[in-house]
Amino acid sequence: MIEVRDACFSYDGEKNVVDHVSLTLGPGERVTLLGRNGSGKSTLARLLNGSLTPTDGIVSVDGETGGLARLVGYVRQDPCNQIISPVVSDEVAFGPRNLGLTRDEVLERVDEALEACGISELRNRMTTELSGGQQQLIALAGVLAMHPRYLVLDEATSMLDQPMRRRVARIVDGLTDVGVLEISHRPALDGREVFLESGRIADQLSVFTGPSHVRPPKTQRARSRQQVLRSSGVTVLGRLHDVSLDFQGLVVLTGPSGAGKTTLARVLAGVLVPDSGSVTLDGRPVCPGDVGLAFQRPEDQLFCDTVFDDIAYGPRIQGLADPADAARGAARDLGIDEKLLDRSPFELSGGQMRRAALAGVVAPRPRAYVLDEPTAGLDAGGVDDLRSLASRLVCEGSSVVVITHDPDEWEPIAHTTVQLRDGRVERVVEHA
Ligand SMILES: Nc1ncnc2c1ncn2[C@@H]1O[C@H](COP(=O)(O)OP(=O)(O)OP(=O)(O)O)[C@@H](O)[C@H]1O
Ligand SMILES: [Mg+2]
Repeated sequence: MIEVRDACFSYDGEKNVVDHVSLTLGPGERVTLLGRNGSGKSTLARLLNGSLTPTDGIVSVDGETGGLARLVGYVRQDPCNQIISPVVSDEVAFGPRNLGLTRDEVLERVDEALEACGISELRNRMTTELSGGQQQLIALAGVLAMHPRYLVLDEATSMLDQPMRRRVARIVDGLTDVGVLEISHRPALDGREVFLESGRIADQLSVFTGPSHVRPPKTQRARSRQQVLRSSGVTVLGRLHDVSLDFQGLVVLTGPSGAGKTTLARVLAGVLVPDSGSVTLDGRPVCPGDVGLAFQRPEDQLFCDTVFDDIAYGPRIQGLADPADAARGAARDLGIDEKLLDRSPFELSGGQMRRAALAGVVAPRPRAYVLDEPTAGLDAGGVDDLRSLASRLVCEGSSVVVITHDPDEWEPIAHTTVQLRDGRVERVVEHA
């Protein structure tokens, strides 16, 4: 049994981010941990597997208080923080090797874990060249290969498509002896739910989480005013084939993992030059900076010393009249607490980082946007804030392309859904 008794943790020695938490997780038990962005979920997860030590209180696993990482497998919120080896098979072998298993046993564990996660064909690939979803699967395989007694999944499927999410759910269901704590922004289908609010276990009724109850504002349906982002015969060898489309208004771009969505995002934003074909914005060839691009991993676009400077960076280099004002406005639009603006962007929770990265994209007010999985890691309030903002941008005349594995979140306010498969446009649906 994992037993957390009156545990506290503080990053700065002042404020408890995990505040007198007591919790148990038995073998075979299922617990879903819910709470807003920044409520302390990932910090608690790190306490459970010993990667952080409580400043007060006790965390014990089957009676032990040391060496917890061998007993508790932890799939981190950002797979890049977990993956350390350049080659996939080495990465998955890393944990079992550290357990002191023989070479044959390690190989067997690697085969088994890759097979279970449906990624055997990736075994010789470079870990850095994979999509966000594939990296999440590798992180999971690496943890499963250690045969942990307990498993902590920190939004571990946020970048996977629906079939892969179901596959992971089946894998986890099959681990009947393993106690599983899953951190999520969606209510649990089975098992116990635990709510965290400002670092404390909370009464479930007081927490705003789960699917949104707020109806998104209707996007202006008329599509005459928005900028047209046009791709003509765009081909990127091996990844995109002859993609010709007009993106105007709010467009949902969806499709299975590996369909080419992120490649198309980069081409549309002018940061990847296609092998043939072209992209124009309102009739002119698109240049980097014309289109606001939010990356799949928010960490990839944060680089300044403070959150404020990161958000203000775009407005400053674009020469906006009042860059500080633009930055503060964007921070408000994304629901970023003023207190976070002076912090380093790398000391934020996953959802807070996402909000900061999105605010930086919106602050210079470009005329078109491509947002790659922008709601991954956002709590329900964050999803609402972002949808309202996207609607407003479209009403003001911008076009917004949203890449998502959850089209249901966006279709009520979208003009069009585009489905990609194997680098080709499979289907275009116009919403009435
Ligand atoms: N490395 C760090 N240094 C300092 N503060 C941090 C660090 N990591 C997180 N924090 C802060 O601790 C608090 C809890 O963060 P944590 O990552 O545990 O939240 P979370 O509930 O997992 O949020 P999310 O839903 O956004 O992932 C937040 O206020 C965050 O800004
Ligand atoms: Mg987190």
